[in-house]
Amino acid sequence: MLSSSIDSLIARLPKAELHLHIEGSLEPEMLFALAARNGVNIPFASAEDVRAAYSFSNLQDFLDIYYQGMSVLITEQDFYDLTWAYLERAAADSVRHVEIFFDPQGHTERGVAFETVLGGITRALADGAARLGISHRLIMCFLRHLSEDEAFATLDQALPHLDRIDGVGLDSSEVGHPPAKFARVFAKARDLGLHVVAHAGEEGPPEYVYQALDLLKVERIDHGNRALEDPALTARIAAEGLTLTVCPLSNLRLCVIGDMAQSPVKRMLEQGLKATVNADDPAYFGGYINDNFRAVAGALGLSAGEIIELARNSFTGSFLPADAIAAHLAEIDRVVAEAGQ
Ligand code: ADE
Ligand code: ZN
Repeated sequence: MLSSSIDSLIARLPKAELHLHIEGSLEPEMLFALAARNGVNIPFASAEDVRAAYSFSNLQDFLDIYYQGMSVLITEQDFYDLTWAYLERAAADSVRHVEIFFDPQGHTERGVAFETVLGGITRALADGAARLGISHRLIMCFLRHLSEDEAFATLDQALPHLDRIDGVGLDSSEVGHPPAKFARVFAKARDLGLHVVAHAGEEGPPEYVYQALDLLKVERIDHGNRALEDPALTARIAAEGLTLTVCPLSNLRLCVIGDMAQSPVKRMLEQGLKATVNADDPAYFGGYINDNFRAVAGALGLSAGEIIELARNSFTGSFLPADAIAAHLAEIDRVVAEAGQ
């Protein structure tokens, strides 16, 4: 049980979300509504049926259902509705800034145009800034189970739109698809001035985290759980001040951890790592960002100071300019003072 003061601190703390797959925010109710709107058949009778099917024993189990779920996303308005619903939900959790992932290859391979996907997402992000005061960055992920050539083709599709794409990432099935496979694509992305991040050490070994650092030259590590198995790697990540985007409920649902008490969040902070807390795919893993904060705070007995540190890390680890980060940290200080923490 969380104390009411910790619960209310979590609710009120301004935060940034740095690890969120927009397609993973497709709630079963919207899945049904879009299936009906677009005349797409889905093998479920109700939203409850869909939720019951969300039982995963590993990352691949989840990915199979996640890619199936995407089949209802067809029009620009679908991508707008998906993104807008996430932003409204994030605003309710005191999220002030989002750096969201999208998976263009999950759509283009179904015949949905890159511009349709990008148009809907970025129109909602612009409305999120204007109407909800949430700033954003957009990160285009390459699906690592696909080839290097396909990643290059995706980067080519993005070229006319780099005014609306801030970075590239690497996601999907990790084991068997090491970062090395994408070293040349990431080099090109860096040359284009894009930010670079990658999922590493979610299921893959510490070696994949080394590759993400040395070959992809990532600015942030998504997940990074298994980096803790290697003390030299842990010390290096701490020394370089790299941010890790940890996703506690995702880790639990994908059996990366057996129990929330095994979440690495507290150990990371204790070892001087800049950990953050994020939702990953909230519609599939049972919770949005504050649910993730509450889950780790309860299971690990996090102090108010540690929760505040996690919120601060979310801004300092973001791609916002220094003045915006400073303004968000000042708002955290005000909220903490009001809460008497
Ligand atoms: N795509 C969506 N969520 C993911 C995750 N947690 N790991 C890898 N790829 C993903
Ligand atoms: Zn992820």
